Amino acid sequence: MKTGIALIGFMGTGKTAIGRLLAEKLGKSFIEMDAEIEKKACKPVAAIFREDGEACFRKMEAQITIDISTQKSTVVACGGGIVLDKANIFRLKQEYVIVCLSAAPGDILKRISGEQGKRPLLDVADKGKRIRELLKTRRPLYEQAADITIETSGIDPPGVAQRIIDILSKYESQD
Ligand code: S3P
Repeated sequence: MKTGIALIGFMGTGKTAIGRLLAEKLGKSFIEMDAEIEKKACKPVAAIFREDGEACFRKMEAQITIDISTQKSTVVACGGGIVLDKANIFRLKQEYVIVCLSAAPGDILKRISGEQGKRPLLDVADKGKRIRELLKTRRPLYEQAADITIETSGIDPPGVAQRIIDILSKYESQD
């Protein structure tokens, strides 16, 4: 049986907050992939994108995925772009159930609006338009990668965490 949970989904769907709660409730370790990348690079994600380029960030993301792919009993909050490379998902699937968090574009916009400079891909004038464009190309990738998808709009992080626990306990009993 898989002992880990990997949270995937678009920026602003609550992966980090929900991942932390899930790990606490289930007594598992918690890893935030972006934080691991920042530790390795000794600079924030936005600076990696600016100074080294997105391709360099994606290489680091792939390396962290390899590093954690066989780690047991861990909840990992992945960066929103983890699905861009199918190899990442293939590796995570060894030990992790893949749970996708989804949210309406308007909710995503509300959640990320107060966080200036943190998400380089949304550092544009018309954030709503960029969110809709990226979602169009990413949605099929999230759908393909996910074992389970949870709609988060209108539910607070503890509610989403509990919903994941409930669904996973059913999912595991069918295993
Ligand atoms: C990205 C999402 C970000 C971060 C980077 C790229 C993406 O993580 O990894 O800015 O491509 O969707 P969050 O989803 O945690 O914001």
